[in-house]
Amino acid sequence: MGAAERARPSTGNVVRKTLVARSTEIDLGGRVVKTFAYGDSVHGPLIRVNTGDTLEVRLRNDLPIDTTVHWHGLALRNDMDGVPGLTMPPVKPGAEFVYSFKVPDPGTYWYHPHVGAQLDTGLYGPLIVDDPNERGAYDVEAVLVLDDWTDGWGKSPSAILADFRRNCMGSMGSMGGMGTTPDEPLGADTGDVAYPGHLINGRLPADPDTVRARPGQRVRLRLINAGGDTAYRFAIAGHALTVTHADGFATKPVTVDALVIGMGERYDVEVTANDGVFAIAAVPEGKKNDPGALAVLRTSSGAVSTDPRTVPQLGGRLLAYADLSPTDEVRLPSRPVDRSMDLTLQSGEGGRQWLLNGRTFAEHEPLEVRQGERVRISMTNRSMMFHPMHLHGHTFALEGSGLRKDTVNVLPMGRQSIEFQADNPGQWMIHCHNIYHAELGMMGVTSYVEWVAGRDTLRQHDAATVA
Ligand code: C2O
Ligand code: CU
Repeated sequence: MGAAERARPSTGNVVRKTLVARSTEIDLGGRVVKTFAYGDSVHGPLIRVNTGDTLEVRLRNDLPIDTTVHWHGLALRNDMDGVPGLTMPPVKPGAEFVYSFKVPDPGTYWYHPHVGAQLDTGLYGPLIVDDPNERGAYDVEAVLVLDDWTDGWGKSPSAILADFRRNCMGSMGSMGGMGTTPDEPLGADTGDVAYPGHLINGRLPADPDTVRARPGQRVRLRLINAGGDTAYRFAIAGHALTVTHADGFATKPVTVDALVIGMGERYDVEVTANDGVFAIAAVPEGKKNDPGALAVLRTSSGAVSTDPRTVPQLGGRLLAYADLSPTDEVRLPSRPVDRSMDLTLQSGEGGRQWLLNGRTFAEHEPLEVRQGERVRISMTNRSMMFHPMHLHGHTFALEGSGLRKDTVNVLPMGRQSIEFQADNPGQWMIHCHNIYHAELGMMGVTSYVEWVAGRDTLRQHDAATVA
C-alpha cells in the first residue's frame, strides 16, 4: 500500500473538512422529516478538491449507532476506504475518526456510510475532484444528487431491512417478464421498496432546486444516484443531453434525450440552455406508483410544470452502455488477462437473501488477486432483477467498449465482464449497490493475497458477522 500511495499524484495541498453525522430534522420542501444527516442539510456538504490533493476529513459520530464514511469510486489507500471490520474499526457513537488520503483521479464521486442501510437516510454527499489542467468548456456547473426518500416519512430503512430479513422480499423479480425491453431497459422489476418521495438535491418537487443560466450558455450537470433501491430515468424538458463522463471518467461525447442511472452510478452531461424555464426530471425507473423527482433549469422568469413524469424527453432516445466508449486518455491499456474469475448473482433462502457465488457475505470466499495482475471478473445474473455491481478502489473497464466505470448495472439474466488492473493493494468490497440486496448478503471481497495484515481483520469480521 505504501508504494501505491507514493505513486499517486501530489499537489502538496491539504483540504480539511469536518462531517458531523447526527440525528436531526430536515425540511425536504414542504415535508419535515426526522433523519440522520451530515450537519443540517440533505445532501451533506459538497466536498471539492483537486487531483493530487490530500483530503483530510474529520468524521464526528453524534449518531446513537456506529458509522463510517466510504468514498465511493476513489482509488484511494485501502485503510481509508471506510468499510468497518474490513479496512477500519467502526466509529462508535461519540467518537471521531480522521480520514486522510491522496485523491488520485478527477471526476464526480460521492460519499456515504458503509454500515447497514444508513445510506438510505440523509447520510450522503457529493465529492467533486477537479483536474487543475482541464479547461472546462462550459459556463455553468451544477451537481444534481438524486435520492429515494422514506426515512422519517414512510418505513425507516432499518425497519425495511428487518422486514426483508423476516419475510420473502415479495417479487424477487420472479413476477417480471423475461429480460429487458426498450421500454424496460432494466427489466420489469427494478426495486422492492416504494418510496413516498424522490429528491433532487434534498428537495421535493413542490419546492425544487433551481439551476440558473443565460440562454445559450453551456451547462455541465454532474448526476449522482444516491438512492437505496431506485434507478432513475433522467431528462430535461426541451433539451438534449451530451454525456461526457461516466463514473467520473471521460467518455467520447454522445448526445441522447434521456439516460437511466443505477444506484451508485454517476454521469456528467452537458446541455446548451434554451430560453425559458424547464423541468429537470428524474423518474423512478419501473416504479409506476412512486412520485418523480424534479429540479428546474431557468434562463428566464415563469413557472414550470411540477409533474416530472410529463417531460416528453423521458420517452426519447435512451443512453445505452454500448453507446459509450472511453477517451484515449482514460482507456485501460489492453493487456493479456492473468486471472479470470466468475461471479454469479442470485437470490436464496426463499427470497430472504441475496447471494454472490451462492453465498452470503457472512460465508463468502475472498476473490483472490495478486498485485500487478490484469483481472477479469465475469458476472452472470441468475435473477430477474438488475444489480448495480460496484467494486471499491478501482475503476474497471467493461468488456468490449472498454468504458471505465466503478458501478455497472448487470441486467436480469444478463452477463457482464469487467477487467481491472490490480494496482491498489488491500481488501476491497465488491457488492450490489441496492443497499437492501447488499445487506441481505450480496457483498464479497476482492483480496490481494499480499495483504496479510488485512486478512486477519477479515477473519475477525467474518466471525462477528456470523455470530
Ligand atoms: Cu457506494 Cu461499497 O459503496
Ligand atoms: Cu442487487
